[in-house]
Amino acid sequence: METLHTILRLIHVTCFAAWFGTVLASLFLLKTLEPKLTGKEEGSPAEYSKLLQNFIRLETKVADTAFKAVILSGLLLAGLYHGWHLAVFIKIGLVVLQVALTLGYIMRSIRPLTYPCTPSEYAKWYRLFSISLSMFALVLLTTFFLL
Ligand code: HEM
Repeated sequence: METLHTILRLIHVTCFAAWFGTVLASLFLLKTLEPKLTGKEEGSPAEYSKLLQNFIRLETKVADTAFKAVILSGLLLAGLYHGWHLAVFIKIGLVVLQVALTLGYIMRSIRPLTYPCTPSEYAKWYRLFSISLSMFALVLLTTFFLL
């Protein structure tokens, strides 16, 4: 049973790292493409917008799978080993809030963007990352200081 505990922790932490990695990779790509998609640098915005879409399609596949594995392994860890302490419920609440806030912001502010757009419209992307990274920070602080 100790081996299963180790395997679940391995899955939980590795999938968290994969999910977090895709978020950072997207941030770097968005930063790199900013001059092209805001028309500050020469190049076809339509072509770069297509490239961004293709990247996000791949990123979403990895992030979705890793997210599901983090949740499932987390619930199994809580149910089988850790116990249903208050901190586990705080973690679950934060994860639900993170998903609601990021999906809500994507629907409302990111989906309607068309390129080229102004730098202030493009800044909506950075607001999305600040929401997502702040929520990661809260979940990690809960994990390491309350769990
Ligand atoms: C429904 C969601 C989640 C539940 C129920 C959950 C539950 C747990 C539990 C019970 C542990 C302790 C494992 C043990 O040592 O026995 C744990 C560890 C951990 N969790 Fe989660 N978790 C969830 C989501 C997340 C998310 C979204 C992240 C990342 C942002 C995360 C990051 C971690 C990390 C890094 C550890 C290892 C801590 C250490 O080694 O001391 N968890 N989780």
